[in-house]
Amino acid sequence: MKTVIFWICVVSSCPGLARVGPAGRQFPPDFLFGTSSASYQVEGAWNEDGKGESIWDRFVHRDPPPAKDGSTGDVANDSYHKYKRDIQMLRELGVNTYRFSISWTRILPTGFSNYINPLGVQYYNNVIDELLKYNIEPIVTIFHFDLPQSLQDLGGFANPLIEGWFEDYARVVFGLYGDRVKKWITINEPRETCSEAYGTVTSAPGLNFSGFADYLCAKYVLICHASAYRLYDREFRASQGGEVGIAYSASWYAPATDSVEDELATELKRQSELTIYVDPVFSEEGGFPAELSTRIAQKSAEQGYPFSRLPAFTEEEKEFVRGTADFLGVNHYCSFLISATKNLQENPRVPSLADDVNVGLVIPDEWPHSALSFMARSPNSLFNVLSYFNARYNKNITYYITENGWAVDEGLEGDRIANYRDNLEGVLDSLDAGIRVKGFMAWTLMDNYEWISGFSVKFGLYRVDRSDSELRRIPRETAFVYKEIIKTRQIDHNYYPTTKEMTIDDGL
Ligand SMILES: *[C@@H]1O[C@H](CO)[C@@H](O)[C@H](O)[C@H]1NC(C)=O
Ligand SMILES: *[C@@H]1O[C@H](CO)[C@@H](O)[C@H](O)[C@H]1NC(C)=O
Ligand SMILES: *[C@@H]1O[C@H](CO)[C@@H](O)[C@H](O)[C@H]1NC(C)=O
Repeated sequence: MKTVIFWICVVSSCPGLARVGPAGRQFPPDFLFGTSSASYQVEGAWNEDGKGESIWDRFVHRDPPPAKDGSTGDVANDSYHKYKRDIQMLRELGVNTYRFSISWTRILPTGFSNYINPLGVQYYNNVIDELLKYNIEPIVTIFHFDLPQSLQDLGGFANPLIEGWFEDYARVVFGLYGDRVKKWITINEPRETCSEAYGTVTSAPGLNFSGFADYLCAKYVLICHASAYRLYDREFRASQGGEVGIAYSASWYAPATDSVEDELATELKRQSELTIYVDPVFSEEGGFPAELSTRIAQKSAEQGYPFSRLPAFTEEEKEFVRGTADFLGVNHYCSFLISATKNLQENPRVPSLADDVNVGLVIPDEWPHSALSFMARSPNSLFNVLSYFNARYNKNITYYITENGWAVDEGLEGDRIANYRDNLEGVLDSLDAGIRVKGFMAWTLMDNYEWISGFSVKFGLYRVDRSDSELRRIPRETAFVYKEIIKTRQIDHNYYPTTKEMTIDDGL
């Protein structure tokens, strides 16, 4: 059933290898197709109209600047001023949904709800109303990495009081926008919010407090999520009738060999990167995964700590967090093989996640590789992730693919196209298997500020003509392919935009 086809390329870039599924399969009529973005990566206007400072504003203004190319998101895509242009691109693509995030400090410049910034409020009203004018459903992420610096100064997600601050913020945004927004994502990527940001220096706030602050964050970020979900239940669900979920970065981890050691290593890796954040919300028992908890408690004891560095949930907290999601958002990019013996990190920092769970990553050469060294993918990885969740939680979970995309250098557009086709075939495979996937959001609309990679990494369906004084946006081939899939609701592996279609003046 799974055949691999080769292309005869007539255009600059070759679609490369793409897996072709059974013919004639269609996405259901109510399936949502969209693109995803994050406030800090596109808005710019970092200190305009009363916006407060976020941890990303503080981080990128460090000396020396942390981004590889020294860039910042001060201007980014200027979406704060050019949202109508963004929505014009969404209309060209024919999507019926757009996922974006709210910048906490644009709404609450102090981080607290003592003062609500009217110009910040107006901006998101404008975006939402413009989307709805064109029947594009807003899916709103309440938090996507840009925590108020004021709250970080008080410990951020390592301080249990964040629960109340987050709930206050969520109450403000549900109240302001919930009449029109019916799908909410509380937290984007708990793993990335905590692991690198609190454990290393590669993501704001760059706390570099590994094996400790990252674990505190893991607990309190999930309590924040649950708090917002329960708030919605108490005060908004009856009148607004929306759904509230959470979005996880979900890579696929599989054992490098069928040895018992590699199987165990894989389970521990999944627990430490993935289910540590998913189990507390979706498992029956609640709380952090068992083997990981035991491992970190043992390590902590050996290191002389009188407590586990991974703070367990109390029974009451388990109950509070358990079952608090109407859907599971999946941000899927990468796959890894896990080995108990190969490629182990030598002398990992102590304490750290890498020391607590030291397993090796193997990325086979034959997998498709993106422009980011860690980003490669195995066949069927998205289907595998969704099947894994359904099996682990033994539940009929509703999924949205809240992010999927591929970073490539100019000239390798065929690789990006193959990524989208493969993953969308994975969505169809999942639907065939009875897995409830309700939408797919491409990462991302246009090249944007890619965190510590700055502008060097390009995920956009659109690129920008830097030689044009208006910085004209130009759809890449992938944009045409995505548009065709959305229009026909099926994946035609033979479709490729003609040179005429791709002339700039015709647009999309
Ligand atoms: C988006 O922002 C990045 C950073 O400023 C820039 O490199 C890119 O060209 C912008 N793209 C568009 C479409 O404006
Ligand atoms: C991060 O912490 C490690 C271990 O303490 C240290 O070696 C390293 O220099 C720190 N990095 C920065 C940028 O402070
Ligand atoms: C899952 O839930 C949906 C909606 O409630 C329902 O239509 C479907 O039959 C369920 N599937 C299974 C396998 O229970």
